[in-house]
Amino acid sequence: MFPAERPRRLRASAAIRNLVAENQVDPAQLILPMFVKEGLAQPREIKGLPGVLQHNLESLPAAIDEALAAGIGGVMLFGIPADRAAQGSQACDTHGILNVAIKQVRQQVGDRLVVIADLCLDEFTDHGHCGVLAADGSVDNDATLEVYAAMAVKLAEAGAHMLGASGMMDGQVGVVRAALDADGHQEVSILAYAAKYASAFYGPFRDAVESELKGDRKTYQQDPRNLRESLREIRLDVEEGADIVMVKPALSYLDIVREARLMVDIPVAAYIVSGEMAMLEAAAASGLIERERSILEMLHSVKRAGADIICTYWAVEAAGLLRSN
Ligand code: PBG
Repeated sequence: MFPAERPRRLRASAAIRNLVAENQVDPAQLILPMFVKEGLAQPREIKGLPGVLQHNLESLPAAIDEALAAGIGGVMLFGIPADRAAQGSQACDTHGILNVAIKQVRQQVGDRLVVIADLCLDEFTDHGHCGVLAADGSVDNDATLEVYAAMAVKLAEAGAHMLGASGMMDGQVGVVRAALDADGHQEVSILAYAAKYASAFYGPFRDAVESELKGDRKTYQQDPRNLRESLREIRLDVEEGADIVMVKPALSYLDIVREARLMVDIPVAAYIVSGEMAMLEAAAASGLIERERSILEMLHSVKRAGADIICTYWAVEAAGLLRSN
């Protein structure tokens, strides 16, 4: 007449719930994506992402200090150049905004934070694609690989600890690894956006980097209907030398995060993207959901699915929430 098992016993108080919690999000495993724009007069808020700023080189140091104080693991920088070109030439220029920002941040933090540079051309091209175009207007995979190789060496010279290979070109991890090694940057690691989907949830990010893209990225980013395809992408990136594999977006792809964690013996990261953040912020601003509880629930869901590392615009705030929780 009594239940033989009573799971509720282990939920009776906060102390016992904490005692038996299966997952913890550690601030040291959070990565904060940051935007820096060349020649920007004043830091600018990004629509839909409260608290996320487009920085200039002058406002960046204080934000980096906050990241250091919060004890997060790393920062991932995206650069927005003043001028864009068909080949994305600023990406490979020592004086290009991303290279300058990486150098500045690295000088500021040394090895206290992991400094990650986005390795992609979409912020640098005047057509907004992640690679260079062939004569027929399609994205030219192999011509793009040559540019990524040159860009990777520049970012390593600027001081990046890690490169976020986010362009979804076939063979990019292998080419970047070879270029880094040939130039003496064996210690620079590669965070491979192994499974990256052509997602509608990148909307606010396109504003953050003032994307010039018309059309979509469906010829290189993955189809949201597919899971098995991600296993192939992850396998290839591991074979090509990825140090960490990332799944992006995170929330609609928790099954992919899980599969990745079961499949590889290297760390798995997941990126809570701009549109995922914007949904929560908009719902919270309307009074429909509790903001801070929802943020923590999202982070824990990504962790529970199997991500070791979480990339999130909430990284600094979440570090505080996690510590006071
Ligand atoms: C492209 C890139 C994108 C994001 C990160 N890197 C946009 C895209 O693929 O169109 C999106 C991140 C976000 O939405 O938060 N290199």
